[in-house]
Amino acid sequence: MTEKIKLINAKEDPIILFSEWFEEAKQKEINVPNAMNLSTISESLMPSSRIVLLKSFDNNGFVFYTNVESKKGNSINFNPQVSLNFYWKSLLRQIRIEGIAKLVANKEADEYFESRPEGSKIGAWASDQSSELKTREELINKIKKYTEKYKKKTIPRPLYWTGFRVEPLLIEFWQDMPFRLHDRVEYKKNKNSWLIKRLYP
Ligand SMILES: Cc1cc2nc3c(=O)[nH]c(=O)nc-3n(C[C@H](O)[C@H](O)[C@H](O)COP(=O)(O)O)c2cc1C
Repeated sequence: MTEKIKLINAKEDPIILFSEWFEEAKQKEINVPNAMNLSTISESLMPSSRIVLLKSFDNNGFVFYTNVESKKGNSINFNPQVSLNFYWKSLLRQIRIEGIAKLVANKEADEYFESRPEGSKIGAWASDQSSELKTREELINKIKKYTEKYKKKTIPRPLYWTGFRVEPLLIEFWQDMPFRLHDRVEYKKNKNSWLIKRLYP
């Protein structure tokens, strides 16, 4: 087996390693390198997954924005333990994150909402995310309604539209290696430090 492909350079701090991989993904992935799978568990204990966009990250966690009254929002309200997953096909790398989703501060959500294009702001008002939409027209009419309502006005952030920060308890880095002998490094939170181990593929 060739060892030409370098093994994961396991740093002490997984956030530094994450940022290095994310930078590479931003260079190499054609579309949405910040797309990540979010898995939640419903009140009836049914797991469910969907893609959301990573909007920021740091030592405190990984932030995405959504509608708290959506299916995912309700599930997180029931059980804030969630899992994130990135798969960057062009790098043949995967990152698994397990952690606790917590609402971001209102100020942080306001600032991010403010940075969004007007159409997206109106969309946040018009969409009852995850509720039944009877006809497309209904949505288009709601967009018209809010466009009219906020014409030449500052569009406020709907209170149901905000961000979650996933505070990581576990982060696993996975890299493709020949003959499926992939390289895996797991970081597990232990108070204020990380326990690091390699895993069998
Ligand atoms: C590339 C991509 C990015 C997405 N980003 C977001 C996002 O940041 N926030 C969001 O609420 N939904 C996003 N969605 C839509 C979600 O996947 C999902 O359809 C929606 O949030 C409703 O999910 P739920 O019914 O499980 O709550 C994205 C979908 C794709 C494919």
